Amino acid sequence: MKEISALQKARAAYQPKLPPALRKGAKVTISEGAPTTAVADVDKVKAIFKATFGSPVITFTGNCEGSCGKCNRSINAGVILSGGQAPGGHNVIAGLFDGLKSLNGDNKLYGFLKGPDGLVKNEFTELTSEFIADYRNTGGFDMIGSGRTKLETDEQFELARKHCEALGITALVVIGGDDSNTNACMLAEYFKANNIGIQVIGCPKTIDGDLKNDWIETSFGFDTACRVYSELIGNIGRDANSAKKYWHFIKLMGRSASHIGLECALQTQPNIAIISEEVAEKKMTLNQIVKEMAEIVAVRGNAGLNFGVALIPEGLIEFVPEFKILIGELNDILAANLDKVNGFDNADDKMKFIAGKLSAASAAAFNPLPTGIKAQLCNDRDPHGNVQVSLIETEKMLAEMVKSELKKMAVEGKYKGKFSSQVHFFGYEGRCAAPSNYDADYCYSLGFTAAALIGAGKTGYMSSIRNTTKPSSEWVAGGIPITMMMNIERRHGHDKPVIQKALVKLDGAPFRFFAGKRAEWAKATAYVYPGPIQYFGPTEVCDLVTKTLALEKGC
Ligand code: FBP
Repeated sequence: MKEISALQKARAAYQPKLPPALRKGAKVTISEGAPTTAVADVDKVKAIFKATFGSPVITFTGNCEGSCGKCNRSINAGVILSGGQAPGGHNVIAGLFDGLKSLNGDNKLYGFLKGPDGLVKNEFTELTSEFIADYRNTGGFDMIGSGRTKLETDEQFELARKHCEALGITALVVIGGDDSNTNACMLAEYFKANNIGIQVIGCPKTIDGDLKNDWIETSFGFDTACRVYSELIGNIGRDANSAKKYWHFIKLMGRSASHIGLECALQTQPNIAIISEEVAEKKMTLNQIVKEMAEIVAVRGNAGLNFGVALIPEGLIEFVPEFKILIGELNDILAANLDKVNGFDNADDKMKFIAGKLSAASAAAFNPLPTGIKAQLCNDRDPHGNVQVSLIETEKMLAEMVKSELKKMAVEGKYKGKFSSQVHFFGYEGRCAAPSNYDADYCYSLGFTAAALIGAGKTGYMSSIRNTTKPSSEWVAGGIPITMMMNIERRHGHDKPVIQKALVKLDGAPFRFFAGKRAEWAKATAYVYPGPIQYFGPTEVCDLVTKTLALEKGC
């Protein structure tokens, strides 16, 4: 028998909480709102999604006996995990499975393997009760695997149809981030427009926390990942305050948005936390960022505090205006000269070739960078065309640049301290943690909701659980039309419909709270030590919501 940890064993028995409307099963009464529109570019979005545009917001109002007969029919459904791991994915699948079984005991669920690729290549496994049992309340996506293949062409949609039809699948659930849910919506549109009887439902996943809006309170995994990082940051803060000799530069995952950095700052009160969105808004150069950081180090160092904690968002570099332009140029140069660039044996020659094709302004930003950072900026893009920011060592670069700046300040008599740094990157450590109670409950409810939406015959919807800062007895479940969250953005030289990415709002309550406190946290040593996620014990330590969500909801 496979060995499992004591926690995993005890946690397997945890029964996630559900919103009231789903407590007796996924047969629900629903209330439908008015027809919806899109967040922006309404006419263009409408023209692309002719069949699915305008559907109403759906709220589950209670349980029903299924007397209309619609949801009692026998259903074969498929599920896909898409993109980066996020704690709670297994519970979405468990909730979906239990929800489907509550509609009709004969219902079946198939898991497509390794993400969207599994659907296109017809690699799948049937998910049975015994199979799922081992994964309840566990982290990871290893139940069926995940992948980053984009589902976007008619050819892929046709393969999806063929493979679903062969298994008698009439509903597909896509668990993914903004890009994957955009693709789920395209698939729903394709099926509906072509009278193919396959429903598509999305579920909001990503530790990055950037898939949220007025209807989707948060993406799952954000809560758990931030708690894991905050535990580690707290431990480091305590070490820094004990040894009193290091500045810790900690890069935090989160690709573009700084939600993770902001949440961790709210939980741990570090001396410095950079928020990329503010950098972009203030059009700060890299040198200005370094100067501001060095000034904080100097103030503390001059007061005898030669230690500190600085949080750096993973995507920072893309928000510094001169680097944003540089990365845009690099994207074009790499795309247009792929063979040539890949053909260089010598890294210096490759950099020279690339630098020679940059504009003067971008070359001025690129050339002084350390060779390692240059190479990282030129690495392959992911399948969605994103720079792989997790591979760029901004934390090292900033630590080096701050050190040089402090040397200058010392010569000018402005700095009398000692500076020694340690660098860290927290990302993969948090993506597969055992889900917190919040994520375990939220994810199970999202999956169960997806089953209820399938039972109700809906397509092109994202599963939604609202009012989650309140006890689960007050949670509201339903579905949000994905087209409602869309706008048109320029991607790879083309106008594309996409779900609007939620960046940190500088006028939002979480950032405003942080901005009001950071000067005090910079000078003082005000670290908070959140400790590890608690799964068993009093509700005030086990059933928490993120500070971001609490502030957003005014709690
Ligand atoms: P998703 O947007 O797919 O949820 O992925 C999030 C993320 O963890 C980012 O924070 C990070 O930049 C990226 O994935 C890392 O990707 P990879 O797993 O391919 O290294």
